[in-house]
Amino acid sequence: MTVSDTSPANDRVVIFDTTLRDGEQSPGATMTHAEKLEIAELLDDMGVDIIEAGFPIASEGDFRAVSEIAQRSKDSVICGLARAQYADIDRCWEAVKHAKQPRIHTFIGTSPLHRAIPNLTQDEMAERIHDTVTHARNLCDNVQWSPMDATRTEWDYLARVVEIAIKAGATTINIPDTVGYTAPVESADLIRRLIAEVPGADEVIFATHCHNDLGMATANSLAAVAGGARQIECTINGLGERAGNTALEEVVMALKVRSDIMPWHTRVDTKKIMHISRRVATVSGFAVQFNKAIVGKNAFAHESGIHQDGMLKNAETFEIMRPEDVGLSATNLVMGKHSGRAALRDKLRQMGVEVGDNQLKDIFVRFKELADRKKEVYDDDILALVTATTEGA
Ligand code: KIV
Ligand code: ZN
Repeated sequence: MTVSDTSPANDRVVIFDTTLRDGEQSPGATMTHAEKLEIAELLDDMGVDIIEAGFPIASEGDFRAVSEIAQRSKDSVICGLARAQYADIDRCWEAVKHAKQPRIHTFIGTSPLHRAIPNLTQDEMAERIHDTVTHARNLCDNVQWSPMDATRTEWDYLARVVEIAIKAGATTINIPDTVGYTAPVESADLIRRLIAEVPGADEVIFATHCHNDLGMATANSLAAVAGGARQIECTINGLGERAGNTALEEVVMALKVRSDIMPWHTRVDTKKIMHISRRVATVSGFAVQFNKAIVGKNAFAHESGIHQDGMLKNAETFEIMRPEDVGLSATNLVMGKHSGRAALRDKLRQMGVEVGDNQLKDIFVRFKELADRKKEVYDDDILALVTATTEGA
């Protein structure tokens, strides 16, 4: 399978952000009411199509947050989560109904392991799905349905319940890889087969919701799009249960940078990525790993002499994206023991210091000695070296 071997019906992918629901469910990532409002506003402003704002029946706080986010929403659809129970769905509707564009998202675990928990037979669960989706649709025009653990659900049963949900009025069918078990080729094939074989599938949007337990969430989401999904569910910084969810910044930038082989675009203003990434890291208390794709501290940083020299000559030698495109002002050439003389001269120029060749040679020798003792050499250290060499110390 290659990502370009399908003919998508359209070239737009809807971005569904669940930072405030699946992301916040991550142990220890709880946000305050004010923080949730702030993140929702940033998501709306950056062009996220759908914000899953919370799980209204889970707590009074979640209900209040979803209601207020719904009331303040501008362009985004505001969605709330509900189990396959009337009370959940009613509570969810009470919260999202204030939005200009509300959505109810209802789900039930359909794999054998998940069916065993409520102890329902296949037929009993099918009936529950029919009844709850119908109930949700009587309240709201925009209903999303998810068979939780879809990727470990038997094909025949999955196809059967997806058809039931579509007939009962679901407008989006989300296919969750709840435990991050699937692989990209399967992710694409599953969506492609559902679209091809389930009656009524061409009348709904298929969504992909991936977890990152095997580090494949981004690849699986993009493969699902190649298979025909037109909604990606994701979170900022990949925040989420266990190893997290698909990272919004990764799928959005992958679609932007590799539009040559993935011809699907989003509405997201990528220049706003870095700011929201930092805010989510701060309010959730989950620091972003240094080498995290797109938003890590080192994602646009270079230390080795060869890389720094290449970057100074032509940024495209070692960068496939421009830092400005994700909201960073510039590439960071980190001054350390791997840096070369060209980078040192460039750094001095940035600091407004012009030195002759002999002084540069002298500063460079001292800089290397210092860099051997310190992990990173800061601007102040370099200025001290300039003073020392000027004074002939
Ligand atoms: O991972 C999952 O299955 C979920 C569902 C509630 C959609 O988050
Ligand atoms: Zn999930």
